[in-house]
Amino acid sequence: MKKIEINALSKRYNVLLESGILSKAGALICDALNRDSGQGLKICVVTDANVNALYAGEDQALFTSLKDAGFSVFKYVFPGGEDHKNLATIEGILDYLTENHFNRGDILLAFGGGITGDITGFAASIYMRGIKYIQIPTTLLSSVDSSVGGKTGVNLKAGKNLTGAFWQPEVVLFDPDVLKTLGYEQLLDGMGEIIKAGMITDKSLVQFILSAGSARNGESFADYMKDAAPCDASAGGKDKVPAIFGNDEALLEAIARSVDIKREIVEDDERETGRRKLLNFGHTIAHAIEKCSSYGISHGNAVAIGMCIVSKAADALGWTDEPSADMMQQITDYFQYPKNIPYTAAQLTAAALNDKKAGSNSVPIIYAQRPGFCTERKVMFEDLENFISLGL
Ligand code: GLY
Repeated sequence: MKKIEINALSKRYNVLLESGILSKAGALICDALNRDSGQGLKICVVTDANVNALYAGEDQALFTSLKDAGFSVFKYVFPGGEDHKNLATIEGILDYLTENHFNRGDILLAFGGGITGDITGFAASIYMRGIKYIQIPTTLLSSVDSSVGGKTGVNLKAGKNLTGAFWQPEVVLFDPDVLKTLGYEQLLDGMGEIIKAGMITDKSLVQFILSAGSARNGESFADYMKDAAPCDASAGGKDKVPAIFGNDEALLEAIARSVDIKREIVEDDERETGRRKLLNFGHTIAHAIEKCSSYGISHGNAVAIGMCIVSKAADALGWTDEPSADMMQQITDYFQYPKNIPYTAAQLTAAALNDKKAGSNSVPIIYAQRPGFCTERKVMFEDLENFISLGL
């Protein structure tokens, strides 16, 4: 089992990664709560309809292990998707908890992707002024990013994640076996954040990803992913995917290294007053791309494109002491990220200026001064369109 210990200012907790960990979840949650058993505690698993159908059955590993550990297990299923990441879903969860007489000592458990984790964490942060919660991410993206670090929240009509709280989980459990039911696009989505982590502080992670060989003896990726959603045609078909997706050990290593990079940053700056802003590399442009596409382009894909745009512009402006655009190009080509976007610099600028991170007259841009070392510069509103043009 891989273990990463997060010592955030407000809480110390572990991220535990292991194949088959769902069947140990009950015991591991008791450990995290410093209890011998879950007797006398209610736990409400919050999940979306998709994960519910795949993994949240009464007789499947997670539920069985929670019940075996003595918890009284409840389940709240919401439809899933960005459209349901809102206050109405939060209210639904809070009502469900009161109807079932959850009190301050009881627990929420987020079982799903980033949306589920953000919603559940936020509900936990406000129910009875704050109860404990557990993160069990089921996507590559949420395993490396949103499940760690305590950012929780929902969207408002005006934009994404505009209301929320910093609320750290008691423990994060990740079972890499769940990646087998993801489509290639969803894997790309998470890989975008792993690449980002490497570009921020450790370029050897990017090199590690590029050099990983396939360890899947004889089994084609198509067999491995036989239950997964069809791949995007741009990925060249299921048999032509990058080797790391056929190498469980290397992929788990990349996930753990990425979480460890996030650990180090969150420990330094839990509330994003300084260094945590580095985790926004590529994100200002990514949010603009997501918004222009009405969220048709996924977050991780938009982050990959955003990092390419920023790197090219930063190189062109002489901000870098070692060019980073080439490495971004190499890694995004390797994974065949769809990079053609039909938006002009003017359209992206207009969307970026509405971003919640924009200041009163400038936008903070995180860029790689060299691969593996990111820093921040402010771009004045009037210069942003030119900056984006240089990167397109
Ligand atoms: N996803 C960026 C952060 O957690 O700060």
